[in-house]
Amino acid sequence: MCGIFGYVTSNEEALGPILIAAAERLTYRGYDSVGAATINRGKIDLRKDVGKVDAVAAKYNIAEMRGQRGITQLRWATFGEPSQVNSQPHLDSMGDMVGAHNGNVVNNVELREQFMAEGMTVRSQNDGETCVHAVERYISRGYQFIDAIRLAYGDLQGDYTFVIGRADDDKLYAFKKGSGMVVGLGAGFTCVSSDLPSILPLTRSVIRPHDGEIVTLWADHVEVRSVKDGKLIDRQPELVTETMDAVQKGGYPHFMLKEIHEQAQVARELLHLLDGSSDVQPLIEKMKSARHLYFIGCGTSYHAAMAGAVYFAQLAGRAVIPILAPQFIAQYAPAVGYEDVGIFVSQSGETKDVLNALEAAEVRGMTCFGLANVVGSTLTKATSFCLPLCCGYEISVPATKTFTNQVVTFLYLAYRMAGKNTSDLARIPELMEQTIEMVAPQIEKIAQDINEWNDMYCLGYGATYPIALEGALKLKEITYAHCEGMLSTEFKHGPLSAVSKGFPIVFIAGPNDVPLIISGINEVKVRGARTIVVAEDDPRLRANGDDLVVIPNSDPHTYALLAVLPLQLLSYHMSVMRGFDPDFPRNLSKTLTVD
Ligand code: M6R
Repeated sequence: MCGIFGYVTSNEEALGPILIAAAERLTYRGYDSVGAATINRGKIDLRKDVGKVDAVAAKYNIAEMRGQRGITQLRWATFGEPSQVNSQPHLDSMGDMVGAHNGNVVNNVELREQFMAEGMTVRSQNDGETCVHAVERYISRGYQFIDAIRLAYGDLQGDYTFVIGRADDDKLYAFKKGSGMVVGLGAGFTCVSSDLPSILPLTRSVIRPHDGEIVTLWADHVEVRSVKDGKLIDRQPELVTETMDAVQKGGYPHFMLKEIHEQAQVARELLHLLDGSSDVQPLIEKMKSARHLYFIGCGTSYHAAMAGAVYFAQLAGRAVIPILAPQFIAQYAPAVGYEDVGIFVSQSGETKDVLNALEAAEVRGMTCFGLANVVGSTLTKATSFCLPLCCGYEISVPATKTFTNQVVTFLYLAYRMAGKNTSDLARIPELMEQTIEMVAPQIEKIAQDINEWNDMYCLGYGATYPIALEGALKLKEITYAHCEGMLSTEFKHGPLSAVSKGFPIVFIAGPNDVPLIISGINEVKVRGARTIVVAEDDPRLRANGDDLVVIPNSDPHTYALLAVLPLQLLSYHMSVMRGFDPDFPRNLSKTLTVD
């Protein structure tokens, strides 16, 4: 997830060390490239490249950079591969302005084409550069800077925060739309950043602008204006008291909990990106004309692939084979050919099992696409086209937000395959927020009740079958208990014998599967099990289950996606109650680059 930092002071100063230190404090967000720009006596000095902060800083001697204004940016690639030219900050056509953003401008491709047609010099594929040209467009038409920003804001679709400075004045300007931004007020300087960690060691006096606000930063004060009418807004500074550690975790005790709570926002950003992407339709056409379709992944990504296959069948009437990557090699690779299409799903884009399967598919001439979070990873480079998951950095080993965005992507693609209106999906982020709010206290209580058990089951059916598998994986991954995910109807074929008094069994019920799930509930209940049911509110489930964890009413597809949230929270609380660190479970690694 990209991060920006801008700094304004009244005298010429050694800004390099300030920018490097700020960049270092943004690294926890994840990045692949680093850049710094200073503005000194009307001249812009810009240095940037792919690599770690210390390596890029050493290579370009960023420490020696001086000026009255500085910008640094860490880039997490979405538009354009990680490369020097795509690194940020970016210049305008004449090199008179410099700016950087974090987030995604979803109409990047269209705007770049317009800018080139208008005669601007577009150097990269990156949407940060698009933000600079969006302002340049109106400056060159004679608008004042604030008005140029206001008009640019109207052109730039997506969720982002942007900072820009021009060579011939003494200010920086920043504006925000759907992405984080914090302004710091210090003694003799002001600064702006994507989040608090880069600001806190400098000052604890901050302003948090809202979406649709433009901030002008001078060395000794800032002004906040509304993008709508350009009028001044009164935003008073607040004093931040949290520690750095708490701030990096966004105030949450663990990254996992923070990432669970980020899911609605990253889903929102992903849906915007998919709506604005010109790559989706060609992908749909390829999938439509495929002989066989395979969704291939491991672990959590495989569960998302399974959910995707259910959506494709239910919504678009299209059969898909979801398959674990190593099993794909053994079972399907010998039989695939150029008429087949595979989507390889991976958070990291580096999972060796997935890359092996990709290699086996490519040897047979299969058309291979990717779905990955880490842009620039091996998977994104090795596939002919890879959709980004747009989750930013997922630090905690248990995958949460990347799972939900994988499922959202498949749901979106299934809608497009079916020719359905994807605007119906726009309410998913809000439903996710509501789900967390509705279930959080009850789940904590259930976690307490069942925490003594080291054996559990999660059962689902149809679209909730992969969700049951995913919930069980989360539980075993971070509680170290044995938890098995299973198709609910399979339980009577063997595992039923394990049930004893109080044995916890979680059922995830879709609105159309209630009678079937009720049979399952009663089979285990009469044998003493404690049944926890995750479902939309239903009197039949209330009457039969021990605990009903109610998720909001949605539609026959979205409920499955919402149902994973209580399971993530259950595993999180049980892990913490057992005294484990859910972010870094024993024996596990976030990226598995081994066979
Ligand atoms: O990076 P990938 O999505 O390819 O990783 C695959 C699995 O290792 C991963 O999903 C793993 O199962 C998760 N840590 C589970 O939370």
